[in-house]
Amino acid sequence: MLEIGCGSGHSLQYLGECKVSELWGTDISEKQIEKTTQHLTSCGLSAKLICSPMEEECGIPEDYFDFVYSIYAIGWTTDLEGTFCRIASYLKKDGVFIFSWSHPIHKCVVAENNMLTFKKCYFDESWYSVSLGEGTLALSDRKLSTYVNALAKAGFVVEQMIEQSDDEIMQSWDDNSEFAKKAKMLPVTFVVKARKL
Ligand SMILES: C[S@@+](CC[C@H](N)C(=O)[O-])C[C@H]1O[C@@H](n2cnc3c(N)ncnc32)[C@H](O)[C@@H]1O
Repeated sequence: MLEIGCGSGHSLQYLGECKVSELWGTDISEKQIEKTTQHLTSCGLSAKLICSPMEEECGIPEDYFDFVYSIYAIGWTTDLEGTFCRIASYLKKDGVFIFSWSHPIHKCVVAENNMLTFKKCYFDESWYSVSLGEGTLALSDRKLSTYVNALAKAGFVVEQMIEQSDDEIMQSWDDNSEFAKKAKMLPVTFVVKARKL
């Protein structure tokens, strides 16, 4: 299994404890790769870790993995179609790619005075700057169809899609908070399971 954007390595830890035969992880941040290494070592686990942007060739083997997954990292790519093509190349035929990201509708709507209001146009995919850790990254709020069409172009078929507000996140917010009110009405997250044809 390969994780794209492995962060601090907690998902790799979970899978390592599930006795996955081989674990790989990549992240653009050296700090995160260091954190993953330390975290896995402290759990008695190991993974092949590569520090690289997901958009670039970085020596990951092709036609090799049964599963590639990514949790809240794919949306950071500056080249969605290229990244999905790269991920398809890492997978064996019939291999599975699962990823999650913020649901685009969540970025468009605010809860105010017990009403949901559109503050941003759903169709607006223009780039803007966001600070992440030590640097600034460019981000675009892509439409759901942009993800689905990029998957199709890269040779994937979508097998399942989940639109939800995570229970764990919901429980960490007061029921009357604007976030909780919004999350009850619309999905905060979407998850896609796609298979390489
Ligand atoms: C929100 S964190 C999620 C981390 C981890 N998947 C988790 O669930 O805890 C997003 C991660 O994506 C990484 N990232 C951002 N842009 C990236 C890129 N272009 N290529 C690879 N990793 C990237 C960040 O360094 C960060 O570790």
